[in-house]
Amino acid sequence: MNNPFLWPDTTTLQAGRLWIGGCDTTALAEEYGTPLYLFDETTLRATMRAYRKAFAAAYPAECRIHYASKAFLNTAVAQIAAQESLGLDVVSAAELLTAQRAGLAAEHVHVHGNAKTADELLRALEYGVGAIVIDNRDEIARLAALTASRSTVQAVLLRIAPNVTGDTHAHISTGATDAKFGLPLDTLDAAVEQVLAAPGLRLIGLHAHIGSQLFEPEDLAEAVAVLVAQAARIRARYGVVIGEISPGGGLGVPYTADTPPADLGRYARTLAATLVEQCRVHGLTPLPRLTIEPGRSIVARAGVALYRVVARKPGYYLHIDGGMADNIRPALYGARYTALLANRAADPAGPPIHVAGRYCESGDVLLRDAPLGHAEPGDLLAVATSGAYTLSMASNYNLTPRPAVLLLTNGVARLIQRRETEADLLARDLWL
Ligand code: LLP
Repeated sequence: MNNPFLWPDTTTLQAGRLWIGGCDTTALAEEYGTPLYLFDETTLRATMRAYRKAFAAAYPAECRIHYASKAFLNTAVAQIAAQESLGLDVVSAAELLTAQRAGLAAEHVHVHGNAKTADELLRALEYGVGAIVIDNRDEIARLAALTASRSTVQAVLLRIAPNVTGDTHAHISTGATDAKFGLPLDTLDAAVEQVLAAPGLRLIGLHAHIGSQLFEPEDLAEAVAVLVAQAARIRARYGVVIGEISPGGGLGVPYTADTPPADLGRYARTLAATLVEQCRVHGLTPLPRLTIEPGRSIVARAGVALYRVVARKPGYYLHIDGGMADNIRPALYGARYTALLANRAADPAGPPIHVAGRYCESGDVLLRDAPLGHAEPGDLLAVATSGAYTLSMASNYNLTPRPAVLLLTNGVARLIQRRETEADLLARDLWL
């Protein structure tokens, strides 16, 4: 095993084969086919519990952990989140429906998005979600109109662009004033006034999310400080108590052995201490609820992708049966991953080689210079930390079906998402 921080907690090697969750991954590939995504339930639950524990220990008032379901969602994962007392962040009608199917209490669901459709807003209102996180002033106007004739009042948070940017890839940096998300600070008062003028809306909190794959909690703490300063200003100017502060998600995970794992305890303590201190400085009592929205750091390491090596271009490439349609991250962000051969994981490393996806695009290279030059057709490639932003961003490029997903628990593999079929793919396709 090349790095325990990259693989699920239950990972072992038995007779040279990769086992996860008490299951032989080589046997699973035979039974279910490849590409195949495996999620280790033990790791998933342990990570969720670690989050709750770290924040409960760090913050003296109420704290909620909302899993950012865009990282990876299906009903089973939402059920696990609910069982572990996590809430859910959703950004579409079908994500909302999944939360409902999984039995999440509406109160623990927040709805995000910079361009929510009328249907999504209505369904959020009908479900009675805990909060809609408003991105822009047009959304306030639309929500005000939609709620005017309803008997219930919808709680909302305002998402600000705090002008704090974390150290991450430009595509996943979201905190700048000119980022596409959130209200610029100089428009916040107008937004507050607009919400206060809408009888169907109740302003309960402020939100910011500065980006993803961040390793410095200080960047996130800076956003917390901006949120508290704005909350204090809004209280002083409008007499509105901001009862919830949400600095978003964003904690990074290592994908390769050269990145040390983020320290969850330090992250929780830094955020909580900043919130407590800034509330003291600004005289904000009682302490607001702290809501955290981790996505990647909840699911990334619990997930492992399995591919079959199909062919070689000797000295240059291995060709596998998946790639950018199930994991676009290397092509989109230059993301790096770590892999091994699941059916002979104890073999010494081979010479470096690139691993090419099967899709018709030169950029479809899943791994570069991986020590897998000894691999042969028929071997199984296991790619670590594949749980986040892979299947949730999957496509049907080249009209290929999306992979099956298994949940592995103490030697039992449960199919939680079946493989897409040709019939699924052609179901929406109509003759002239
Ligand atoms: N809250 C909000 C409002 C978000 O937009 C996101 C992620 C999160 C929470 C969760 O952030 P996380 O803890 O997962 O970093 N596709 C990209 C990542 C996009 C992140 C989108 N927003 C990737 O594969 O790296």
